[in-house]
Amino acid sequence: MALHKDVEAILNKQLIKEFDAEIVYLGMYVHFEKELFKGFAAWFLKQAGEERVHALKIVNYMLDRGGSPELPALTAPKVDYSAPLDAFRAALGHERTNTSGIYECLAKAQKANDPATVEFLQWFVKEQVEEEKWASEYAQMVERIKGSVGGMYQFDHRLEKAAKGE
Ligand SMILES: [Fe+2]
Ligand SMILES: [Fe+2]
Repeated sequence: MALHKDVEAILNKQLIKEFDAEIVYLGMYVHFEKELFKGFAAWFLKQAGEERVHALKIVNYMLDRGGSPELPALTAPKVDYSAPLDAFRAALGHERTNTSGIYECLAKAQKANDPATVEFLQWFVKEQVEEEKWASEYAQMVERIKGSVGGMYQFDHRLEKAAKGE
């Protein structure tokens, strides 16, 4: 069955959010590399890669359904943050925005009586729980250690390992 126009439109809206998250995380990668927080940099580079995977999942799903994915123009991301906490808080904000975007997609798919898209979106629903979990925990951690250079480097080291899946 052809993709309902409303579902196609909302998936295209979500594509913008996923690509936007990718470029924002790349901006954080550049920022933290420059600041010599190599672990934070590695973490956000990994997350940027994941956001691209999310965006491509949607592109490919739309193609599978005979839809027309619209690739958005890039918006230059911020590459300067006054403190690590600002970047981690911004990441949490992006994840929450992406979660509500997924929920909007789900609502549209249900309204359009499109069980295939409802099923497709289940992966994203679960993924966003994980995404909000790290973003929220890391923002809390950085908040706690914000006055401590030693604490910050220790956490940086932890994220370097986490980026490698250790
Ligand atoms: Fe995502
Ligand atoms: Fe994400």
